[in-house]
Amino acid sequence: MSQIKHYLQFKDFSREEYGHLFARAKWIKDKFKRYEPYHPLFDRTLVMIFEKASTRTRLSFEAGMHQLGGTAIYLNTRDSQLGRGEPVEDAGQVISRMSDLVMIRTFEQDIVERFAANSRVPVINGLTNEYHPCQILADIFTYIEHRGSIQGKTVAWVGDSNNMCNTWLQAAEVLDFNVHVSTPPGYEVEPERAGLYGTANFEQFADPLEACKGADLVTTDVWTSMGFEAENEERVKAFADWCVDAEMMAVAHKDALFMHCLPAHRGEEVTAEVMDGPQSVVWDEAENRLHAQKALMEYLMLGRIED
Ligand code: CP
Ligand code: NVA
Repeated sequence: MSQIKHYLQFKDFSREEYGHLFARAKWIKDKFKRYEPYHPLFDRTLVMIFEKASTRTRLSFEAGMHQLGGTAIYLNTRDSQLGRGEPVEDAGQVISRMSDLVMIRTFEQDIVERFAANSRVPVINGLTNEYHPCQILADIFTYIEHRGSIQGKTVAWVGDSNNMCNTWLQAAEVLDFNVHVSTPPGYEVEPERAGLYGTANFEQFADPLEACKGADLVTTDVWTSMGFEAENEERVKAFADWCVDAEMMAVAHKDALFMHCLPAHRGEEVTAEVMDGPQSVVWDEAENRLHAQKALMEYLMLGRIED
C-alpha cells in the first residue's frame, strides 16, 4: 500500500506540487464564486475522523466534499469503536475499504501514520499534536492571494511552539522562506519535533518584538492547544508578554499581514485591535480552508488536473 499518496505533514509534498495546488485552489475558488458546479469527485466518499473538537476543519472538509460532488461521513471517538480501544491499524483496514479518502484529527502524529500505513486510500492529517498541514496550506494560499509569492519572505511566529509553528517551519524549508520564532523560555522549538531537516530558514528570538522586526507576516495561535488543557494555568502566566499587539505590527514591514488559524482569544495571544484591524486577513484565511482543501482532495483522488 506504500504507493498511495497521503498528506500527513507539510513536507510530504514538493515545492512543485504546492505550486500546482495553489493554482488549482485559485481555479476552484473562482469557479465556486461564479456558482459554476464542479463535481470531479462524484460518488466518492470521504470519512472524517475527529478525536478532538473542530469547527473549521469539519465544515470545510464536509462542505468541500459535497461541493466536489461526493459525500462526507463524520466519525468521532465517542460514537465509534475508536474510543473503545479498536486498534488504529484495524480501523485503517476497515474504514479504507468503505471509502475513497480519509481525514483524521487526533493526538499523536504516530496515530495518523499508523492509520495511513494500513489504509488502501489516501489519508489527510486534519491536525495532530505535532502538525496542522491543511491550515498552513490555506494560510500560504491566503498570503499569495494578498501579496504574491512567499518565497524569500519572513514569517514571525509569536507564542507557543505548537503544531502550527512546527508546520510553518516545515513549510519554510519546502517553499524557501524564513520563520522567526519567539516563545517564552521553556517553550522553544525542538527542531526534531518540528520535523526539521535543516535550520537554514529558521531563527529563534527571546524577544517577540525582535522576531517581528521587518516581518512580512505576523502570526500566532492559542497559548494552550487541544490536549494540553491541564497546563492552561501555568501557560497563561508564562505567555503574558507573547500577545501580538500594535507595537509588534508597527515594527513589522509596513505591508505585513496578520494571520491566526482560529479560534482566537482576544486579549490573550492577540489584541482585539490587531485581530480586527486592517492588517488582519483571518476571515479570508478561514474561508480558504475550503478552497485549498478542495484542491488537495482533487489532487489526492485524481492526480494532476490542468485547467
Ligand atoms: N483552524 C482550525 O483548524 O479550526 P477548527 O479547530 O475549528 O477546525
Ligand atoms: N494549536 C491549536 C490549533 C487549533 C486549530 C490546537 O492544536 O488546539
